[in-house]
Amino acid sequence: MIHRRILRPVLFRLDPERAHTVAMSGLAALARVPPVGALVERRLRVDDPRLRQELFGLAFANPVGLAAGFDKQAHAVPVWANLGFGFAEIGTITAQPQPGNPKPRVFRLPEDRAVINRLGFNSDGAEVIANRLAAWEETGRAHRIPLGVNIGKTKVAEDAAADYVTTFSRISRFADYIAVNVSSPNTPGLRDLQERDAFETLVTRLTAANRVNEHPRPVLVKIAPDLDPGALEAIVGIARDHGVSGLIVANTTIGRTGATSPLAAETGGMSGAPLRELADDVLRRAHTVAGGLPIIGVGGIFSAEDAWRKILAGASLVQVYTGFVYEGAGLPKRINQDVLLLMEQAGVSSLAEVIGQG
Ligand code: FNR
Repeated sequence: MIHRRILRPVLFRLDPERAHTVAMSGLAALARVPPVGALVERRLRVDDPRLRQELFGLAFANPVGLAAGFDKQAHAVPVWANLGFGFAEIGTITAQPQPGNPKPRVFRLPEDRAVINRLGFNSDGAEVIANRLAAWEETGRAHRIPLGVNIGKTKVAEDAAADYVTTFSRISRFADYIAVNVSSPNTPGLRDLQERDAFETLVTRLTAANRVNEHPRPVLVKIAPDLDPGALEAIVGIARDHGVSGLIVANTTIGRTGATSPLAAETGGMSGAPLRELADDVLRRAHTVAGGLPIIGVGGIFSAEDAWRKILAGASLVQVYTGFVYEGAGLPKRINQDVLLLMEQAGVSSLAEVIGQG
């Protein structure tokens, strides 16, 4: 209500990237005042044993996570637990600091409930973000919910695998899981890392680095929704062979199906409502070949019904980004409460009973 009536109208009058900066400043401020965060959390956290799961060695109190790209620079780490999320993924982080693409580079498509972005991994770089994460750890509030760190390639890096390994080595000790982003459409050549040989090289090097890691971490791979079935099957096969812990399906699409806004002509990755069906289809296909590998479903979730569809299609967990922009801070709570209602209607008492049953 507060979001629809007050915050959204104000924020939506600003340029989208500016609105995001303003919102993030507020959230980062909240993250620094634990008693206020605790008050917010009392209103927004849904605590129910039926929502709990253990996946890749981590305890998830509920299945709704914050998708990568919202807190790219780890400015508000503890706040995501306060807002009732079950987990949060920061980043994408690159090894070297880089500014990303020229502005404007984020576009709101309100008539489509969508966003197009071509940010291009604006990142403070692994060193700065590692220091920030170390400072959050000192507060003792960094890991109240599982914290994923999403890593990507520095634009100018020529040896992609070496670049990912650099970031991985700097950052993994602060992460509960690492998400390997090979699917952003905004870094030239990045999605080519989803091709068989390049992907195998990348995964081999990362999992080798993980084995010698003092604290090995679950490694997940985030894929594009635009993969054809053959490419998807090859990726899942390689991921399974190399001990990858899970998949994140999916990143933004380069397609424009379902978008009607004139801004749909902007270059970049589209997220939100028009992505939903495509992301659901890829998720379903990934689940059929994943052989039990857990999947995080993301793309076009605005409600518990949307989340439920992903769970039925094979998602163990879900993430939101664009839905959070349009629906506001109450979204994780609403999804969790309504998922519980849907579980009651389905006559189940655990999410495991419904995952992939659609
Ligand atoms: C993103 N997304 C994203 N993903 C990622 O892996 N690394 C990133 O840095 C970003 N950055 C980013 C910026 C903006 C402005 C948007 C809208 C999205 C993709 C995001 O995590 C998610 O996969 C898609 O947006 C689909 O989910 P929604 O937005 O439809 O819920």
